[in-house]
Amino acid sequence: MITAQPRTILISGASRGIGRAIAERLLADGHRLSLGLRNPAALGGTSLDPAIAGADRTGQPRVQLHDYDAQNPAAAEAWVASSVSHFGAIDTVVHCAGVFSRTPLLFAPGQEQEIQQLWDVNVMGPWWLTRAAWPHLSGHGAGRIVVLVSMSGKRSKGRLAGYTASKFALMGLCQTMRNEGWDQGIRVTAICPSWVNTDMAAAVNAMPKEAMSQPADIAAMTAQLLELPNSCVPFELAVSCNLEV
Ligand SMILES: NC(=O)c1ccc[n+]([C@@H]2O[C@H](COP(=O)([O-])OP(=O)(O)OC[C@H]3O[C@@H](n4cnc5c(N)ncnc54)[C@H](OP(=O)(O)O)[C@@H]3O)[C@@H](O)[C@H]2O)c1
Repeated sequence: MITAQPRTILISGASRGIGRAIAERLLADGHRLSLGLRNPAALGGTSLDPAIAGADRTGQPRVQLHDYDAQNPAAAEAWVASSVSHFGAIDTVVHCAGVFSRTPLLFAPGQEQEIQQLWDVNVMGPWWLTRAAWPHLSGHGAGRIVVLVSMSGKRSKGRLAGYTASKFALMGLCQTMRNEGWDQGIRVTAICPSWVNTDMAAAVNAMPKEAMSQPADIAAMTAQLLELPNSCVPFELAVSCNLEV
């Protein structure tokens, strides 16, 4: 589908997994993308390579790749500034960068570093990036923020204390973004999958890959979200590939 009104969209975590599928879908839909990556060169030769993605109506490359490490607060400001310089404006942020670890409640000595990484990437990463992008989103009138949270941001299952705590915190951040952005036309959606067929899920879940939610289907949902008016954007999309009781 080619959208009538292309958006200018920042996407974190687009090197692989859900973020990559979302980037490919939104590019196919006609949007302009700025992708924040730890290794931009890794997208060389793919459909997300600026040289392959082509130019928009003004002759600007439709895809920009920029260095971004979610653990570096200064990286968010630099990425946003570069995106605005390249495209003139931004109106949407899709937060997909994230990490997983099995850190339990009674973590062992040394595992506190895992907790710090979960906090830095899953919570502070989206916080810094949203803060940097906010003036541009709020000036647009129909800014959008999509956040890959998790069902682990809604309920605690098993013994994943570190990951679950980071995702509950991220959900709290999403609710606050919604509250603070509402009057300026910013709409926030927290997408909460259980298992999605990516590297992250493969590392921790033995479920058959074909039984999981697929990245392309999360991407299709995201594309649909960006077509909806301010009056009809869902705040939360809970997406379980298995029965949640
Ligand atoms: N897969 C699931 O079952 C599932 C379920 C619910 C929620 N989620 C959430 O969905 C999001 C995407 O997950 P996924 O399954 O697509 O994961 P994935 O395949 O492991 O990809 C993770 C992405 O995050 C990026 N990333 C990690 N640390 C980063 C950092 N410090 N700075 C910048 N980028 C960083 C990775 O970049 P590199 O390539 O540089 O490592 C990669 O692009 C995550 O927030 C995850 O928690 C996933």
